Amino acid sequence: MTSVSNNIYATLCNGKQIPLLGLGTFQSTSDDVKEVIKTAVGIGYRHIDTARAYRNETEIGGAIKELIDTGVIKRTDIFVTTKLRGTFHRPENVEHALKLSLEALQLEYVDLYLMHSPMALEYRGDDAFWPTREDGTLAHDDIHFVETWKIENHPFLDQKELIDLCKSNDVMVTSYSPLGAPDRPTRKLGVNDIQISVANDAETFQVNSLIKEIAKARGCSASQLLIAYNLNQGMACIPKSSNPIRMEENYKALKVSLTDDDIRRMDTLACNFKAYPFKLWENHIHYPFTTSHKESPASS
Ligand SMILES: NC(=O)c1ccc[n+]([C@@H]2O[C@H](COP(=O)([O-])OP(=O)(O)OC[C@H]3O[C@@H](n4cnc5c(N)ncnc54)[C@H](OP(=O)(O)O)[C@@H]3O)[C@@H](O)[C@H]2O)c1
Repeated sequence: MTSVSNNIYATLCNGKQIPLLGLGTFQSTSDDVKEVIKTAVGIGYRHIDTARAYRNETEIGGAIKELIDTGVIKRTDIFVTTKLRGTFHRPENVEHALKLSLEALQLEYVDLYLMHSPMALEYRGDDAFWPTREDGTLAHDDIHFVETWKIENHPFLDQKELIDLCKSNDVMVTSYSPLGAPDRPTRKLGVNDIQISVANDAETFQVNSLIKEIAKARGCSASQLLIAYNLNQGMACIPKSSNPIRMEENYKALKVSLTDDDIRRMDTLACNFKAYPFKLWENHIHYPFTTSHKESPASS
């Protein structure tokens, strides 16, 4: 395995560079995430996406420290994103939340700090991620978001208007769930936390006939095509995998060149499918997904 990176970079409006391909880590559990990060860097990934809510910052930080201490990478070689939990949205809580993340990550800075969602929740302590009211519903806070421009993006969801708006305002877009999040959790609110059960995985994007046809024509896998769909449009993209073979497969999407016609044909698949409609929050004053959505894409 090599630690040479073949990344493609984009320049952010502050002049910093972001590697377009990143590694998603939601549901990469603390048991395996340290090895996952070391393997990813070995493959060539230089952009890691985490969040305080993923509860894996400590392990990711441990892996990065080890990679830096052993001379595999320098801090400046790697782009680390983490996210502000909705319980810390009040301006007086943001610095504290960032310090908690930096401490867990054992870093002096992160390269990108995003609001995890536009919907704020009441602060009830550093680890109370899902504060509830007496009736068991989520304890919403009405503090307004300023900007949150990480979005779900894939051919099955038309985000063109939002992406064009970002482009015209020099705002970089990162696409999450590029593979349709086939293992997305079905979330049910429990008393103190969320309970996660794995959703039925019958309809992954990989089995769509148009995706298969274009992938075959470009000599790549369906997953590589779905990642390349974002990269070829200049967006950053953070497919999650904790499997070394799939991590390597996804990394090779950097080499997949698509034509405008490929993109246009993939765009015809748009059916307003959202892997993460965040239904738990739909009564929140800042819930953004007011248009109807589908919870499963057409598979052919
Ligand atoms: N800001 C937000 O609100 C937000 C929301 C959602 C996601 N995200 C970020 O975006 C990342 C990616 O999104 P996601 O995790 O929802 O979904 P995703 O990347 O679309 O899909 C991940 C799933 O696909 C599987 N997979 C990966 N590569 C594959 C391949 N080549 N062939 C077949 N299956 C493959 C993974 O399994 P294995 O691990 O077993 O390979 C995993 O089950 C997250 O991990 C997170 O970092 C952010």
